[in-house]
Amino acid sequence: MKIVTIIGTRPQFIKAATVSRKLKDFNDMKEIIVHTGQHYDDNMSDIFFKELEIPQPDYYLGIGSGSHGVQTAHMLEKIEDVLIKEKPDVVLIYGDTNSTLAGTLAASKLQIPVAHVEAGLRSFNRKMPEEINRIVADHVSDLLFAPTKVAVNNLINEGIAEDRIYYVGDVMFDAAIFYGEKAGQQSKILETLDLKPKEYILSTIHRAYNTDIPERLKTIFNALCKIGKDITIVMPLHPRTKAALLREGLYEKVSEKLKIIEPVGYLDMVKLEKNAKLIITDSGGVQKEAFFYKVLCVTLREETEWVELVDLGWNYLVPPDCEKFIEESIRKVLNAPHGLDAEPYGDGKAAEKIVKVLRKYLL
Ligand code: UD1
Ligand code: UDP
Repeated sequence: MKIVTIIGTRPQFIKAATVSRKLKDFNDMKEIIVHTGQHYDDNMSDIFFKELEIPQPDYYLGIGSGSHGVQTAHMLEKIEDVLIKEKPDVVLIYGDTNSTLAGTLAASKLQIPVAHVEAGLRSFNRKMPEEINRIVADHVSDLLFAPTKVAVNNLINEGIAEDRIYYVGDVMFDAAIFYGEKAGQQSKILETLDLKPKEYILSTIHRAYNTDIPERLKTIFNALCKIGKDITIVMPLHPRTKAALLREGLYEKVSEKLKIIEPVGYLDMVKLEKNAKLIITDSGGVQKEAFFYKVLCVTLREETEWVELVDLGWNYLVPPDCEKFIEESIRKVLNAPHGLDAEPYGDGKAAEKIVKVLRKYLL
């Protein structure tokens, strides 16, 4: 049985690492990895392949950055070539990026079955490019692997046949368990950055609607700079955000107030997350990792796909439109009690379950 896995961005490398590891247990399952090249800097791509021991991609498409249309179109064209050549039994796609969309379209038009890992998430905000990508991916996929029960219900509510939906849990929870301990032992990032456990805030910002609207970018970073006077804020800076801060002439000022660092590898990131007093983010993955490591999280967005975390009191949604409101909200959460105990993301065996379903479907 031949599986083509399509990945291209940082969170997809992390998700795919968990399933690839399980696929290796079976000699009769051959995985071909296609890296679209959507993320290409060493610290956004190569480092994850090395640290997570993902097999080197069989195809590197080298697409790089571009507008949504250009980027997706170039990927679509090249993925189609690979699929025609490889003739896989199934195409495995992850999450909600443009690489996901291109992989989905290329496969479904060639009538190759599509399996979507992280199906059913919805923000119900169609201004997000990711929301469009997810809806398309879910509606043309043959197998939908949902990370949460809420995701299962979203799919059913959209009329997707129940026999295509599998609640398996979240592969990022698998990754958190598998690499969490390793990070504790191997990462020296706290020493390198001279940080003490629970005496700093970790922050990541990269959503297009937070970085690409200058007013909102300023609002967010002004608020963070104010908080940064009282407690160290460490920010591994996504290249999109760096470009936006430079464009708006904010980069220098922000670098003086916050501890800005280059994007880090997964093990360093996990170590930073585990030891943070608070996490402030707009990332999907980082919101959940905060919960996995029992750290409170402020999400600078109006809505989230991971609603369980808000309900359980681990995640606070703070719409990023007013500097004073952001600052006050963060200060409140710094003193808030922990959320409730629960396990909404499965049992840490999502990847194993995905491989089991794939085998049953294909063999
Ligand atoms: C993409 C995904 C987003 C995901 C994020 C994970 C889409 C629509 N968005 O957003 O859902 O949360 O990845 O990080 O697919 N850049 C570099 N070097 C790199 C990669 C990007 O400099 O290696 C810069 C380029 O200026 C580029 C910008 O970052 O234009 C944005 O990159 P892109 O891949 O288009 O979107 P992300 O914001 O990374
Ligand atoms: N991450 C990382 N290094 C960083 C920032 C993030 O390894 O400098 C990891 C993080 O731990 C999580 C994933 O990248 O597992 C999240 O990716 P990102 O925030 O880019 O995308 P999203 O999850 O929002 O799609």
